Amino acid sequence: MCGIVGYVGQRKAVDVLIPGLQRLEYRGYDSAGIALQVEKGIEIKKSEGRLENVERLLNGSAESLQKSHTGMGHTRWATHGKPTTQNAHPHKTGHVVLVHNGIIENYLDLKRDILTRGHKPVSETDSELFGYLVLDEMDKGANLAEAVRKSFVGLHGQCSMVVMSEKEPGVIIGVRNGSPLVAAVDPQGGAIIASDAQAAISYTKDIFFLDHGEMVIATNKGLVFEDLKTGKTVKREPVKLDWSVDKMNKGGFPHYMLKEIHEQPVVLVDTLNALLDRNKHTPFPLSDQPAVRLLENARQLIFVACGTSWHAASIGKYWIESLAKIPVSVELASEFRYRDAVLPSGTVVIGVSQSGETADTLAVLRDLKTKKIPTIGICNVRGSSISREADAVFYTSAGPEIGVAATKTFSSQLLVIYLIAGYMAHKSRATSDTTLAKCFEDLVKVPHILSDMLEPDSSMVRQVTGAVDSVKDAKGFFFIGRGTSFPMALEGALKLKEISYDYAEGYAAGELKHGPIAMIDLGMVVVVLAPKDLWRDKTVSNLEEVKARGATILGIGDTEDHDLKTLCDLWVGLPKEGRALEKGLLPFLLSPIVQLLSYHRAVYRGTDVDKPRNLAKSVTVE
Ligand code: M6R
Repeated sequence: MCGIVGYVGQRKAVDVLIPGLQRLEYRGYDSAGIALQVEKGIEIKKSEGRLENVERLLNGSAESLQKSHTGMGHTRWATHGKPTTQNAHPHKTGHVVLVHNGIIENYLDLKRDILTRGHKPVSETDSELFGYLVLDEMDKGANLAEAVRKSFVGLHGQCSMVVMSEKEPGVIIGVRNGSPLVAAVDPQGGAIIASDAQAAISYTKDIFFLDHGEMVIATNKGLVFEDLKTGKTVKREPVKLDWSVDKMNKGGFPHYMLKEIHEQPVVLVDTLNALLDRNKHTPFPLSDQPAVRLLENARQLIFVACGTSWHAASIGKYWIESLAKIPVSVELASEFRYRDAVLPSGTVVIGVSQSGETADTLAVLRDLKTKKIPTIGICNVRGSSISREADAVFYTSAGPEIGVAATKTFSSQLLVIYLIAGYMAHKSRATSDTTLAKCFEDLVKVPHILSDMLEPDSSMVRQVTGAVDSVKDAKGFFFIGRGTSFPMALEGALKLKEISYDYAEGYAAGELKHGPIAMIDLGMVVVVLAPKDLWRDKTVSNLEEVKARGATILGIGDTEDHDLKTLCDLWVGLPKEGRALEKGLLPFLLSPIVQLLSYHRAVYRGTDVDKPRNLAKSVTVE
């Protein structure tokens, strides 16, 4: 959602704020702004649209602004009020300046109160209102930190806030009241506050993740943490992030998304290495860790997730049920949250979230914790809310994912869930160790196969780009599949609509004739995922129905599946090496194909691939 960066220290603030905001652009935004402290007060430059607009404003501004050592910046993803310059942050109310991420739920009451006090808000935002609360508290004699603390009393909703005042130059206050906020000490003196560690990682790897209900005071001397309610000092330890700055550059690729698709072989190996104990002689040698211990007593698993993470869990359901033979349900966090779900004893709930910040997934885990249900997170971000609040965590080692479309985090989530399936199958003795040993051996081969598949001139890459070229005029896409290819079809359709804005639907192949087939005619492209697995024959028979209605069929299947290939107008073959793999592993090979299809289609359509419209990388509001 909104991105926040604050800086006070020895460097020129613009040199930290602008690159910091650029690192957060991937979160999605529609306006941006920065505030800089100069001798005569705090000046704001803001604009609707891209951050470049703010840079242009800055370039034409006084030298004193360029030289300022204290300031803050914001990229806004509109919630209350249109994406206009007036609604862009920072907001200035008297001598108080603030940026905000999240929602003030009782803003209407607050607005009435503010108007009664004689203030005249100039924006349509809920954020600006908070500034008046701070202003009034300071006018009554409180210092900035006290005023911010008092202003939070009676505020409803999850948010994070960064506040400065002209009356206290060189002080920046950050508050985490739900939405994520991090802080870091600048080794050159001073400190950074940000909504995301990526804004600080170029300066230090030691990141402080604020807890809910915590406040941080940043000055030239560093950071002081306080409890938001009591004002008492809190001792905090930083988390050392192992993310390298290289992973945050495009590395020669035209888009982050393409780079991240290509990183999949490496991140799968990294994820395996981080989770395994190779000295163990069991078929799925997961190293001893709290999350593994929680799995040992599980009699039923419930996955909760949103979007792509939900698709990863939905594929995992097939694996766990078939290998470990324990019941699994996969729930959309936004639905599960408000349902009276029945949770028998022995239930373990697994929240899957690459960001670890998705509001709905986090809320479910929090709620279940109060009900004493064991919770596990599968997260990519160390220090994220889910990673800290779940009872235990499996980390994916995908490194920072900048493209809004989840790609490498998706395949690393799949990997973790496959490891869970194999591990539980071994423990429950539901599948023989010989079969499991083969599953594991094959799993280890997957990164190598992917690496060949993703070679720049591989036949897969050529077939995908050729297929995209041949369907330029498509009016819509259906992705269909059965078994594990059904959630993969949902994922293919989500990727496509997310970044190319095409009309796209994912369907279980067997469901087509229950309604959606009415949509199929000339101009529609049906992408059929039919690798040679348990479900292939049934899917192919559904395909005949589609063919009869004139759609263009793009088949994805075993490279030597000539019968299927003959039925299709366009074709992408899975690599030969995939034929010997355990069938359950085929989703790993389908995944880069659907990702590349959507990528190349989006490039053809000229969309903003890494920052698609209306979307945010981490969805920290309901
Ligand atoms: O951070 P999370 O994995 O919890 O995010 C969940 C969804 O918002 C996310 O997967 C979204 O659907 C992606 N942008 C899809 O590419």
